[in-house]
Amino acid sequence: MSGHGDPVPMMARKGAALTGEAHVPGDKSISHRSLILGAMAVGETRITGLLEGQDVLDTAKAMRAFGAEVRRDGDGTWHVHGVGVGGFAEPDDVLDCGNSGTGVRLIMGAMATTPITVTFTGDASLRSRPMARVTDPLALFGCRSVGRAGGRLPMTLVGAAAPLPVRYTVPVPSAQVKSAVLLAGLNAPGQTVVIEAEATRDHTERMLAGFGAEITTEVTDEGRVITLTGQPELRPQTITVPRDPSSAAFPVCAALIAEGSDVLVPNIGLNPTRAGLFETLIEMGADLTYENLREEGGEPVADLRARYSPDMTGVEVPPARAASMIDEYPILSVVAANAAGPTVMRGVKELRVKESDRIAAMADGLRACGVEVEDGPDWWIVHGRGAGGVKGGATCATHLDHRIAMSFLCLGLSTQAPVGVDDGGPIATSFPIFEPLMRGLGAEIDRA
Ligand code: S3P
Repeated sequence: MSGHGDPVPMMARKGAALTGEAHVPGDKSISHRSLILGAMAVGETRITGLLEGQDVLDTAKAMRAFGAEVRRDGDGTWHVHGVGVGGFAEPDDVLDCGNSGTGVRLIMGAMATTPITVTFTGDASLRSRPMARVTDPLALFGCRSVGRAGGRLPMTLVGAAAPLPVRYTVPVPSAQVKSAVLLAGLNAPGQTVVIEAEATRDHTERMLAGFGAEITTEVTDEGRVITLTGQPELRPQTITVPRDPSSAAFPVCAALIAEGSDVLVPNIGLNPTRAGLFETLIEMGADLTYENLREEGGEPVADLRARYSPDMTGVEVPPARAASMIDEYPILSVVAANAAGPTVMRGVKELRVKESDRIAAMADGLRACGVEVEDGPDWWIVHGRGAGGVKGGATCATHLDHRIAMSFLCLGLSTQAPVGVDDGGPIATSFPIFEPLMRGLGAEIDRA
């Protein structure tokens, strides 16, 4: 049964400076893709640094249901014995993807061109999210689907028996949609082409090339045109998952707003399709530096050093940057509340269909903490109160959204009165060690 245990109320309060090193877990996007592509390769893929959050564990379970062997060693290495492109067996039960939009959408793509029938479900958050953005392009391959009103889960997909290759322009900036189409294209003959007007995270393209698929990206007037040649034999890989910049965002931003802090967050992937938050923070005047900048596995990597930054000012975030920091707007709004003047965020309609409506969830909680927030369908403005200027003293609703929970707990490290969240349970989906890691830096975060 899909669901989530009893709510875990939590509380954060201002205390000592945050100091020390924060070793955040593996990248969530890359972790899902490692398991899925590992399951579609022939032979054994080895993965180290996999994020062992619930979202990724649910994807591992799904790959087992398709017939891949997925196991974890005592030393934390994961081994995936793949069944090959087109080799997925039909699961004998419903696939429960828990809280994970990335998991369910990528897996739908991966099975859509294999003649099996799969029923997907998830928790209350995932069951409220739109799936037509994925099932519409998958229908072009010949995959049929039926779900609840509004294209919601539970939903059953019948994979195409004789798939056709597809040329598809992604109508919303979404790496999940792009990736679902590419994964479906793997088992279609000929060339599948995906066009995206705005660059979104490119981990699927990079990883497909690494597994031996023929894939090219051309930048044209239409945007990025990605061409994949179908029916390759994917070769198993040895993958080291870099640490997640979206998780690094929390200790980094907490250090910027908690008085006296100085925190090092080592080994963070700075793929340009993911690094928009850090660029924005530097524009705001954050004392944030990249140390030991280097290249690893074809990706830029650095140690991030964040120090308390009492003189930050609000900025206008360019809409063109939105895709490269789409998961980071909640924590950015917390920093913005501690900066002087307004921070304006436009072109962010996608925030309304994440694990929660992230504009509404953050706006409600920030207002309850004494921060003025304006919002519209695809924009919001946080009127900063300057360093330490936020009252706090509220319990914020997290709506089954891990990033909302972590954002308000970080806010509480800077506010005049403590900040609570009604449920910190979902943090385990992406950042299971958040609590001990933050406490290790000196943060006063507790279960209420
Ligand atoms: C992800 C893509 C983004 C992001 C999500 C992870 C991915 O979603 O919000 O957390 O791994 O492809 P969208 O594709 O909906 O923008």
